[in-house]
Amino acid sequence: MEIQRPRGTRDFLFNEMKERKHVENTLRKIFEIYGYNEIKTPIFEELSLFTTKSGEGIKEQIYHFQDKGGRDLALRPELTAPVARLYIKELQKNPKPIKMYYFGSCFRYERPQAGRFRQFWQMGCELIGGKSPGSEAEIIAMAAHCLEELGLEDYEIHIGNLGILRGILNTEGIVGDEQDQVMGLIDKRDVEGLKDLLEKLQIGQKPTEILLKLIDMVGHRDILKDVEEIIKCNENAFNSLKELESLLESLEAFDFSDYIVNLGIARGLDYYSGTVFEIYVHGLGAQKQISGGGTYNLIEIFGGEEVESTGFAFGFDRVMDALRKQDTKIPIAGTVDVFVAPIKEDMKLKAFEIAQKLRKTGVSTDVDLTGRKLKKILSHADHIGTKYVLLVGARDLEEGKITVRNMKSGEQELIDLDNIAPHLKKILNSSDHNSNGSYSPEDGSNE
Ligand code: HAM
Repeated sequence: MEIQRPRGTRDFLFNEMKERKHVENTLRKIFEIYGYNEIKTPIFEELSLFTTKSGEGIKEQIYHFQDKGGRDLALRPELTAPVARLYIKELQKNPKPIKMYYFGSCFRYERPQAGRFRQFWQMGCELIGGKSPGSEAEIIAMAAHCLEELGLEDYEIHIGNLGILRGILNTEGIVGDEQDQVMGLIDKRDVEGLKDLLEKLQIGQKPTEILLKLIDMVGHRDILKDVEEIIKCNENAFNSLKELESLLESLEAFDFSDYIVNLGIARGLDYYSGTVFEIYVHGLGAQKQISGGGTYNLIEIFGGEEVESTGFAFGFDRVMDALRKQDTKIPIAGTVDVFVAPIKEDMKLKAFEIAQKLRKTGVSTDVDLTGRKLKKILSHADHIGTKYVLLVGARDLEEGKITVRNMKSGEQELIDLDNIAPHLKKILNSSDHNSNGSYSPEDGSNE
């Protein structure tokens, strides 16, 4: 019987994991440069955490179950709601703003296709207690900085403000579930469905025209003048437009101006209230959105004190796909820098001893565990990308020496055994070598 992987999930092998780890660590580094601290929340939560705002309908799109104690639980489909829960319980009294980031897997019961999985990873952040537009501008600039650092080129950052569309809908009395339905169709770009729904909701012709015009407003900042013309009679929508303008001004101060204004962004999750943004890589086809976020209203809904909150998440798997599509060179280091090879079987224990001493000084080291002939050991060490092989021979050891073989050049030198660790560290750190697998405390953890 062949046991299959569950639909919509993947296994990752060695090189892919190395690439993912490199990208993960690069993103972590940038988040931390901007003052974010990492948090971790459970993979499963109470189901009500996700249904409270989104309604029972969300159950169709998530993995939920009852545990043996009869509790209704769900695998998390995203991390903003868990972070809001954590904030209310643990952090409400902390000095603001609070900057948190996370990396972890999410689960959605969706139809799998390229770039859309049932288990996928998000690297994201939440900024709670900052003030808009400064916090929003800083977050968008940080997202751009992350992509720049990764060397991704062909992406577009689209920025909008949901308050504009919501302002029009509120004035027409379209609120609550009905408003969520309208926003859902806009998010899916289902214009025909949207027209039908607006008709069913008996919105007049004028506001329908305004809405249809607004969702097509995509382009340079200049389009905001036309938007102002269209919505100037609606005070709430007008105020949101002014918010968007001051966000764009703050963004310039954060040295980012390469954005596209897009008033058709509605976001799939219904907790967003004002500024929203999405990042697209068109080469990825239908699943082109590699990131999304904005300002949201969730903490009060869960019973916390009102506080401004904004955040975003990279779809980590899509970022990986985008880098691959663009042929970005992601450095893949070998597993270990040094391989200890006994020249003969009777040197095996000595080889173990030397390898273990090196590991304890922090040199990434492997040792032969197969009892193979030297030729085969060398070929294996080469195959796994080892830079140096230590040849452990009885005659050298009698003189207190060991032979170090450079696997690239084939050169060999005799080194004092007492000095082997400092010697290896020196040559590994020299300019033309980047160490392979030595442990570095900043390395991320994959969940
Ligand atoms: P989201 O747009 O639903 O936002 O997800 C964020 C990103 O996760 C998306 O832009 C996409 O790249 C990726 N993603 C979503 N679903 C899948 C899937 N099935 N397979 C692969 N990748 C996927 C959120 O989740 C919000 N919590 C973001 C946020 C944080 N807003 C404020 N703070």
